[in-house]
Amino acid sequence: MAVVRIPAEGRTIADFAGARAALAALGIAYERWEPARALPEEASAAEVLAAYAPEIERLKDEGGYVTADVIDVTAQTPGLDAMLARFSREHWHDEDEVRFILRGSGLFHIHPRQGPVHAIEVGPGDLIRVPRGTWHWFDLCANRDIRAIRLFQDPSGWTPNYTDSGAERGLEPVCLGPAQLAPA
Ligand SMILES: [Fe+2]
Repeated sequence: MAVVRIPAEGRTIADFAGARAALAALGIAYERWEPARALPEEASAAEVLAAYAPEIERLKDEGGYVTADVIDVTAQTPGLDAMLARFSREHWHDEDEVRFILRGSGLFHIHPRQGPVHAIEVGPGDLIRVPRGTWHWFDLCANRDIRAIRLFQDPSGWTPNYTDSGAERGLEPVCLGPAQLAPA
């Protein structure tokens, strides 16, 4: 389950209703998808997309998403540092950023135009939809492992617009770890 932290206020929100409400206040939709189907760890991207087809189709209808893919990175992924460097600078997109976490964990930072930065640590079963135009950045946790379904409104895929605000430089990407992400 996602854990929301507000570093400037020293607050941590680790219950589903609280996290959902805190994220809704930022315009971010947060859902839990229970993996009702047994998917082997080595399931292909096509098998994953097929298994979650009902949820993916619902989101496509709701949000105008036209494509879905599976991103899969581990510490062994070639070029990982260069890839992460693109994610971890504050940026925004012309489309929503939609992620359903299948394996591993990661850390979104959301920077509202007004109010404090929120850190959102996501793990398996978490779906978040970050609306277009939201300032944010993303880091992997220390084990550098994540597999996620991504949905796009623009078939050309992930395009960042960097803010160059430097907001990310003041905040260490701190993950609390799997024990905190486990469903209560
Ligand atoms: Fe992004």
